[in-house]
Parts: sequence; C-alpha cells; structure tokens
Amino acid sequence: MMRAFPKNFLWGVAASAYQTEGAVEKDGRGQSVWDVYAHTPGRTTNGDTADIACDHYHRYPEDIALMSGLGVKAYRLSTAWPRIYPHGKGQVNRRGLDFYDRVIDLLLHEGIEPWICLHHWDMPVAIEEKGGWRNRDTARIFADYAATVIAHFSDRVKRFAPINEPNVIPWVAYNVGRHAPGQQDYAACLAAIHTLNLAHGHTVKAVRAEAPKAEVGNIVSLGPVRPHYQDAAHEQAVVLGDCLWRRVTVDPLWLGIYPEPIASEIEPLIQGDDMDVISQKMDFFGLNHYNPVFVGPNPTTSFGISETPPPIGMGPLTDVNWVVDPDAFLEQIRDTSARYNKPVIYITENGASFADALTPDRKVIDPDRIAYFNAYLGRLLDAIEEGHDIRGYFAWSLMDNFEWGRGFSKRFGLVYVDYPTLQRIPKASYHWLSGVIGQNGL
Ligand code: BG6
Repeated sequence: MMRAFPKNFLWGVAASAYQTEGAVEKDGRGQSVWDVYAHTPGRTTNGDTADIACDHYHRYPEDIALMSGLGVKAYRLSTAWPRIYPHGKGQVNRRGLDFYDRVIDLLLHEGIEPWICLHHWDMPVAIEEKGGWRNRDTARIFADYAATVIAHFSDRVKRFAPINEPNVIPWVAYNVGRHAPGQQDYAACLAAIHTLNLAHGHTVKAVRAEAPKAEVGNIVSLGPVRPHYQDAAHEQAVVLGDCLWRRVTVDPLWLGIYPEPIASEIEPLIQGDDMDVISQKMDFFGLNHYNPVFVGPNPTTSFGISETPPPIGMGPLTDVNWVVDPDAFLEQIRDTSARYNKPVIYITENGASFADALTPDRKVIDPDRIAYFNAYLGRLLDAIEEGHDIRGYFAWSLMDNFEWGRGFSKRFGLVYVDYPTLQRIPKASYHWLSGVIGQNGL
C-alpha cells in the first residue's frame, strides 16, 4: 500500500558552491579559506582540491536537466561569498552575480524553485586574515555581502538561509581543526559561536529589509547526542556535547538564550542588543540530519569531551562510518518540534555515502542508498502523521562532490560523477527517488 506525502510537499535536492562549482579562478573569484586548506599538504584525503570539483560552473545546464529528470521542484544552492566579494567586502564582482543569474534563470525556466543559502563554508581569505568568525566585525561584513545577494535576487528567489550548519563551523573548523581554517583553539571556538549567531541575525534583518515577501530560516545539522559507553562520565559528556552540538547555535536563535552549561562562557562576549538581533523571527527551521552523534570524555581536548566513533557492533554504517538509524531521525524531528514550539520544518539535507562503483556497462547499482532513503522517508512520514509541520525534503546530494576533508573519496550523490571525464551517471537511487517523487509517496 502506498503511503502518501501531503499535497504540495516540496521535493528538492541540495548542494553547495565550493563542493560542486570548481572554476576557482574564473571571472574574478577571490580565494576562499577552503582553497588554502585543500592546497595545504596533508589536509584532505589524497590531497584532493576543489579546483575543478564537478565543474558545475560550466556544466550547470546539464545538472539542472538532471534535477528536472528527477522531478524535484526545488534546488538548495549556496552563493560563494568570494565570487561576489573577492576580498570579502568592498567592490562587488558583477561576474560573480552573473553566474548565479544564469543558474537561477534556468532553474525558474525549468519550474525549479531556487533556495539560496548565503554561506556554505567558503569564507574569503581576506576575511579570515582579519580573524574570520573569531572576529565579531565579521557578522556585519557578512550581512553586507548577504544584503547584496538578497537585493539582487529578491525578484526571483523567495527562500533564503543565512549560514549552512553554524553548529558545525565552530566545533569542526575552530576546535577540532579538521575543516578550514583548521584551528584548535577554545577561545576561537566560543567567539565563532557568537559571531555566527550575530551574522545570522543581521542577515535575517537584511532579508526583511531587502526582500519583504521572501521567507528566511536557519539551516542546522542535528542528531541525537549519545554516550559511547553507558557510564556516568559518558552521560556527563552527553550533557556538554548536546549543548555544544545541538543547542548553542539554535537556542539563541529560537529561544533568545544561550543554554547551560556553556552560557557563562559566552556571556562575556554579548554586547548591547545582541540577543535581540540574534533571535529575529524566522519563517522556517531547516533541519539537516544524517546520524546520531556519539561522545565521550576526553581530557586532552579543551572542552574535556570529544566525538567518538559509534560503539562497536552498532550498525549498519555508511561509508563515512555514520550509523544508519532512522529512529534517530524521528527522535530529532520530535525534539526540534517540541523545543522550538512547532516551527515549520524543511528537511534541508539528508542522505548517505556508500562506496559506489561503475559496472562494466557504466551503471551504478546502489541498493544501500535506496534502503537508507526508504527507511528515512518512512520515518519522515511517521513524523508528518504525528503532526509535526514538515513541508519539504531536500536530498543530499544531487551528485557526488568534494566532500570537504574527505575529498572525492566519499560519494553522497544520486548521480555518480566520473571525475576523470566529469561524466554524470544517474545511480539506481536516482531512478528510485524519481519514482517516489513522481507518485508523492512511498
Ligand atoms: C553536511 C554538509 O554536514 O554534511 C555538507 O552540509 C556535507 O556540505 C555533508 O557534504 C556530508 O558530510 P561530510 O563530512 O562527509 O562531508
């Protein structure tokens, strides 16, 4: 029996500028922190860089045709700050805007709604040199860039999100150091949390000013935080881990407060009306979800805890060692709905990496990914039936792309990218999902 999604449920795919575009020196683009990081020996798997990536910059018509073939009605893209302001601020690079004009006009022509995320981690180097997210001035500079983009596209784009996963950036880029700029600095991590929240707030205000008819929401990656072992020390680590991973970049936006036990650490950074700026009213909650997160005590880290691999024996796992646990997805949706007073939710990323291979006749058969989507979409239907206000679902990702520190070694796409030739080959999961979207049901 078919289980149907609600009428007008929005089906989409998500991707980001740096992971797909390539053309890093084209048309006046400035350098981003990720260009520097990826070119630093030892930082990415196999020394991969995104200089070419999927060459989406030139092949976007083919990629948009693939979206049409899949049947999606929305595409979540990010604009690259260094394409539009090569030095982060100052003179606008018109050719950067021109590229996104071409993409957005073609999307609209194909009946696909563009959703713009204004930052997916590719900060201009010139801004990082002035302290990046450690420097509170970056919040306003970012919002000025965002206002330029919002004003330019407000005639055609109706959904904006300021920053992709502000919970990941402080933790992974400034504390653990495995994302650009690769720092391991407690104070920098705390400062980044507050600057990112401020940048979010100023950008929400920019949307209201420049595009009063558009909607704006946050996009954050959340999953239940669990102990690696069942003991008191691990339970304690969960409290702090939960605060750092799930609450500290979401509670201020939706509840106007910093959560314990980290609030007292951030309070010295709060000035004037910061909390009002941060907690502007939003129209939707963008929830990225992949997996539950495991933590444990670790006295060698500045916070005294760290993320751990999943406990032994827990499975199945994806190719990046994330536990496949659809119940955790439902648990996360319930938590988001309850804690933030039943917001309108869009699932803005969900998907899985598996070790795909081309068959001799150049096909990709990926039953594990189909099983993953089938199970997660099943839980999404459960959540909708429970009454959570979920309006749409964006699969991550349309095609294989530059998976940050993992380079091209891991594949999340519905479409396989044969990197030597850049040929796109829709996987079995693409055809399967296209069927689900076509009948709007499982
Ligand atoms: C999300 C990001 O957190 O996870 C994506 O928004 C990313 O940009 C995806 O590609 C997969 O994660 P990872 O760590 O394997 O690159």
